[in-house]
Amino acid sequence: MCGIFAYKGKRNATKTVFEGLKKLEYRGYDSWGMAFKKQGKIQTIKKVGKIAEFNKKIPENADYAIGHTRWATHGKVNEKNAHPQLSNNKKIAVIHNGIIDNYMKIKNILMGKGYNFKSQTDTEVIPNLIQENMKKSSFREAVKKSLKTMEGSFAIVAISQDSNEIIAAKKMSPLVLGINDNESFVSSDVAAFLSYTDKAIIMDDNEMAVIDEDIEIINLKENKKITKKAKSIGMNYEEAEKGGFKHFLIKEISEQEESIMRAINQDREFIENISKQIDNAFGVFFVSCGTSYHACLSASYLFSKIVKKHVNVVLASEFINYKHFLTENTLVIAVSQSGETADVLDAVRTAREKNSRIISIVNVPGSSLTRISDEVIPMNAGQEVSVLSTKSYTSQLAILTLIAYACAGKYEKGLGLIRKSAYYIKKIISNDRKKIKSLAKKLKDKRDIFIIGRGLAFPSALEAALKIKEVSYIHAEGLAGGELKHGTLALIEEGVPVIVISTSDSEANIENNANEIKSRGGFMIGFNSHESNIYDYFIKIPSLENMEPLITIVPIQLLSYYLALYRKCDPDKPRNLAKSVTVR
Ligand code: F6R
Repeated sequence: MCGIFAYKGKRNATKTVFEGLKKLEYRGYDSWGMAFKKQGKIQTIKKVGKIAEFNKKIPENADYAIGHTRWATHGKVNEKNAHPQLSNNKKIAVIHNGIIDNYMKIKNILMGKGYNFKSQTDTEVIPNLIQENMKKSSFREAVKKSLKTMEGSFAIVAISQDSNEIIAAKKMSPLVLGINDNESFVSSDVAAFLSYTDKAIIMDDNEMAVIDEDIEIINLKENKKITKKAKSIGMNYEEAEKGGFKHFLIKEISEQEESIMRAINQDREFIENISKQIDNAFGVFFVSCGTSYHACLSASYLFSKIVKKHVNVVLASEFINYKHFLTENTLVIAVSQSGETADVLDAVRTAREKNSRIISIVNVPGSSLTRISDEVIPMNAGQEVSVLSTKSYTSQLAILTLIAYACAGKYEKGLGLIRKSAYYIKKIISNDRKKIKSLAKKLKDKRDIFIIGRGLAFPSALEAALKIKEVSYIHAEGLAGGELKHGTLALIEEGVPVIVISTSDSEANIENNANEIKSRGGFMIGFNSHESNIYDYFIKIPSLENMEPLITIVPIQLLSYYLALYRKCDPDKPRNLAKSVTVR
């Protein structure tokens, strides 16, 4: 995780980096910092807390600047551990995203040479290693040499008092260059510089960029200069702005009618070809994490129901355990909003080693996952800024649903049902918002919330629990209705809230489970199409063949948002979390 932003050019460098970092805060927000060159000297500013809350003046008139917003991996959250990290002679500053696996080894060698370390970070070895290597070479050669020593996955940006260059390099962590007339940007993602330019060079692993008046790109493996053309990104700046909404979360929840419509606006032949590959594969694996995993799990129920096809749904972090089942006839479908989730990338690399075919469903264009896949289905959700996946979840689900219908030979029918769902979602958002807000008020002081569902509604229960807990910090647990009696029922007592999600197929069985809870005093909340006197609170969900997972999650996203507001939690930046999980 962590966000990197650097700038060299005609604008006010520190201010530009400060603004860039604000846009990257979703990647980490426990502390932030900046290094800049001013009057020939490297200077730094480092702070604990969110950058958006910093209201003092930042220094101006710098020649260029590099900045970082941190999601702690090595060392506590404090100013010492915030980036940039400086070399002992204070002439080199480095910001870094990722992990240097062999940093202890490097640190011990440097300590043996008399270097002191002030932070607990792995990053601090980098400027010191560069300082050591600069004894015999120029800044750029010293960075090159240092990169050869460093193991792990990382993106770094370095500056030196003895040079006018900004040097950026990457190995398995994202880094993009933004290109405009007489100015250059380095960033962890394109969105942070979209307001200045939409022209970007996406850096590949083992590449180093030297930014001065021009940009030079060096392939580190072959130690030679390469030419890479800047390309237009195809994302627009407005998507990344709040547009009148108080928080990105509510903005992104509210735009799901449009994002779902964009998600299914695919080339029919392309989707049908993918469905053929699913049909012909000897083993299909859906691989993903978190919310994306829930979308895959939900889709697997649909594949079973309408295609009668078994697909394996595996958490990316567990995928390594399945590698013995992979062959060149296996199809792996990797689903990721960011396209940068380290666990997903590892899983795909594992599949690559076995020559399996990789299709990915990704939201962020140009992300690492798009570049290691054989084929990419764009999610088209638009930029998702809130750390919570909302519109990306419904886009993933819409695409997977469309593929399932294509596999069943019913592409048009699938398309029609998804379109209708998008319309229902819009209605729910405008008609039920008040009722959902009142429900949040009732639930705001509860310690636990349980969510049950059966069949297609079971993955929705898991996703509902994830949304509630990650943003409101109320303990929420999603489970299959049938599982209650196997343990969790012991926690149900007077007033414990239980949300019951159902689909038309599971109505009767889930009502039995609801009765079991009701008789133990549970506060029953129904999110379904069939009103019943079991429920103490009821949100009606339109009944639409197999589409309930797509529709039901939206009012629960709204509930999560209002719970966060009532509990004074930040809806866009939940504690300890980051949007792009680039660590293992
Ligand atoms: C939850 C959430 C996470 C992500 C997970 C995977 O709201 O956002 O659980 O779904 O970190 O991220 P991607 O889809 O980027 O691979």
